[in-house]
Amino acid sequence: MKLVYQQMVAFLIVTLSTLLVLGLIFIRFSTNMVYRNKWSSLEGYADSLYQQSIVTDPMTGNLKAVQISGLQNSEKLLTDQRVHFTIYLQNNVIAYPKQNISPKINKEQWAKLRKGKVVTSKSDTKQFSAGRVRPMTEVMKPYLNSKRQVICVISVGSPVSNIQSDVQKIRYNLWIAAGFSALVAVIAAFFLSRYTANRINRLRAAAHKVANGDFDVTVPTGGRDEIHDLSVDFNRMSKSLKTSNAEVQRQEQRRREFMADAVHEMRTPLTTINGILEGMQYGALPEDSQEESIELMQRETKRLIRLVNDNLDYERIRTNSITLNKTNINIKEVVDRIYSQIKNKADEVHDDLIVTVDPNLTVLADYDRFVQIMFNIIQNAIQFTSDGKVEVSGSADDKNTEIVISDTGIGMSEEQLQNIWERYYKADASRMQTKGESGLGMAIVHQLVKAHDGTIKVSSEVGRGTTFKLTFPIAK
Ligand SMILES: Nc1ncnc2c1ncn2[C@@H]1O[C@H](COP(=O)(O)OP(=O)(O)OP(=O)(O)O)[C@@H](O)[C@H]1O
Ligand SMILES: [Mg+2]
Repeated sequence: MKLVYQQMVAFLIVTLSTLLVLGLIFIRFSTNMVYRNKWSSLEGYADSLYQQSIVTDPMTGNLKAVQISGLQNSEKLLTDQRVHFTIYLQNNVIAYPKQNISPKINKEQWAKLRKGKVVTSKSDTKQFSAGRVRPMTEVMKPYLNSKRQVICVISVGSPVSNIQSDVQKIRYNLWIAAGFSALVAVIAAFFLSRYTANRINRLRAAAHKVANGDFDVTVPTGGRDEIHDLSVDFNRMSKSLKTSNAEVQRQEQRRREFMADAVHEMRTPLTTINGILEGMQYGALPEDSQEESIELMQRETKRLIRLVNDNLDYERIRTNSITLNKTNINIKEVVDRIYSQIKNKADEVHDDLIVTVDPNLTVLADYDRFVQIMFNIIQNAIQFTSDGKVEVSGSADDKNTEIVISDTGIGMSEEQLQNIWERYYKADASRMQTKGESGLGMAIVHQLVKAHDGTIKVSSEVGRGTTFKLTFPIAK
């Protein structure tokens, strides 16, 4: 069932059941009211009949006489109003009217009357007139002497038809009110639920778009209800889907670029090796260049192996499948060792290698992985710096060891900085062919530092140089 109808039905059920309960209570209450009014006026008649007809001893209050003559006038008057009365004396004797009618007060009623209580009945008393039975409402009022004994009971009755017509009117009005309220409820429910359904439909349409890959959707928010909350969450979801989709596409793009580059990169050494091997096979290589050819083949093979290894390494670190054997490592010793290995390259581009680390400063890390981190950063620094300097410094507080590697090289732009931790990222793609880089160095460094629970930050300025700041926690 559509939401609109569901809500309309729910609204109707609530409205009608409320009306029903209230209506029943109201009808009961007003019927009782009508009866009570009737009874009090009947009681009034009884009192005036008593005064007109009953003569009592002023001392004892006992009955002296019943003056029938006064009653006959009253009877005429009351008959016009369809009021009937009977006067009973003690022992159920009827003093008026004189016709031969049987007493109608039963034992229980007498018991109450003797206690001085007025007995009322709603419609169980019947009156026979012109052959028809008419339901009556009746009041029986006892009159007592000074000893509180009943001297007479006056019963006054009136047909209930006028009462019933009053009640009927109330019922009729109630029905009209119920009908009107139900109509208002249906109309209100329709508009309210259409408003809700529209908002849900808007969300549905947006969800459809997202399902079809369009993440550029936002649904309007407003109000303070659950649909508003849902809309806010939906917008947040589509936004984050958009970001992650963009991220996936960016990664995919980078992977494709890398594949293209890697294939190209691999083809060059493979073609070189293949050419040399073919030359050897057909004896086309001059004797004296054979050693040189083998060296060339070795270099090319190493390049290939490095490319493959770097990729494997990156994946292993990223998926946490390496074990770190952490020890306290003397930083200066490591930097000195790397400097001595890399000195030739630094000399080629006239870079000064400086280390200003306290000889006692240590860092808690896996030795080989720490060397790998430092080597990659220092190697980059030398690669991208000429006629400048590369400096490593270090310090420690009670939580972390900090290592800073700075160079005075070409630096990086804002965009290059943002992508530096990305796999396969090279700021200058054309360098790949000349230097054989894979753009994996920084991605590996980033993952390794993370694996050590450390942090790595980079700041750089084009033409002025780059600074890497690493921190490693001291102990757990
Ligand atoms: N110190 C630096 N100064 C300027 N640019 C840098 C520096 N370090 C890194 N970069 C830039 O970041 C890119 C990514 O560095 P990364 O070490 O990951 O790759 P790579 O050095 O090109 O290749 P690989 O290290 O795998 O041989 C570099 O190509 C370079 O453009
Ligand atoms: Mg590098």
